[in-house]
Amino acid sequence: MLLSSFIQESTAALGRLYPAPEARSMVLMLCEERLGVKSYTHIVIPSTEIPDEALPGLQEDMRRLLASEPLQYVLGFTMFYGRRFNVTPDVLIPRPETELLVDEAVKAGLALGRKLRVLDLCTGSGCIAWSLFQELQDAEVVAVDISPAALGVARSQFGGPGPEFILADVLKDADSFDHGMFDIIVSNPPYVMEKEKPAMRANVLDNEPPIALFVPDDDPLLFYRAIAGWALRFLAPDGTCIVEINESLCAPTMEVFTRAGFRNAVGLCDLSRRFRMVKFTR
Ligand SMILES: C[S@@+](CC[C@H](N)C(=O)[O-])C[C@H]1O[C@@H](n2cnc3c(N)ncnc32)[C@H](O)[C@@H]1O
Repeated sequence: MLLSSFIQESTAALGRLYPAPEARSMVLMLCEERLGVKSYTHIVIPSTEIPDEALPGLQEDMRRLLASEPLQYVLGFTMFYGRRFNVTPDVLIPRPETELLVDEAVKAGLALGRKLRVLDLCTGSGCIAWSLFQELQDAEVVAVDISPAALGVARSQFGGPGPEFILADVLKDADSFDHGMFDIIVSNPPYVMEKEKPAMRANVLDNEPPIALFVPDDDPLLFYRAIAGWALRFLAPDGTCIVEINESLCAPTMEVFTRAGFRNAVGLCDLSRRFRMVKFTR
């Protein structure tokens, strides 16, 4: 089969689920990964054929994509902070906005100018923990999640030394956690309210782990209250805590931390001026 025909037919088929430019870039990325071609190969060499032995695999990939499975799960990886992370349906697919949290944590860490200890609560794929481990030279990083399967993915990311991944419940286990004090505490906890489901796309709702996403409508800030408890116990006197937030709940999230006694709670925006994070110190 001609590569150009596969791209044209698959883009048209996926266009029933995604906007046309997104459908096209998904198909091009699939071809780049599976066939080792460039996104422009079918244009500059129109006679390029897909090898017969590669076609069944590509067709299976397309079957999964047409069943609304995210491309990242089909390929088994996503890029985050310039690195390739394994992802499976046991972990949330790292989002680009979470890179802003890593940026802020790196800034806060470098400002302290010493060997750092970092705690990542609700680590999932470990994308934040590993990024900070690699960006903050010599940092000791401890990361926590309630899901043994997610921790398995997090541990699998890179060889060699890395963060320590620990099974714990952020809502219950602060009292028994005994790993010392931390200069930086970060978290991207579940924060999507159940009532926000109708606005979400099928590929997220049907595939990503609900435990990574949802909080009850009547208590959407429960993780932030728990994180305040962890920070009260484990944040160093000059340390910084940065959490990703539900953009519609910035003010009440800041209030959780202010009420817990923290100073300087500020909301931080992304480039489109949407509140994405709250940062605070002791
Ligand atoms: C929004 S995901 C964040 C994953 C990753 N940190 C990221 O930014 O892509 C939230 C994570 O919290 C974990 N989680 C949910 N409830 C938890 C709890 N009670 N204690 C610890 N982790 C929890 C989920 O397993 C999931 O991995």
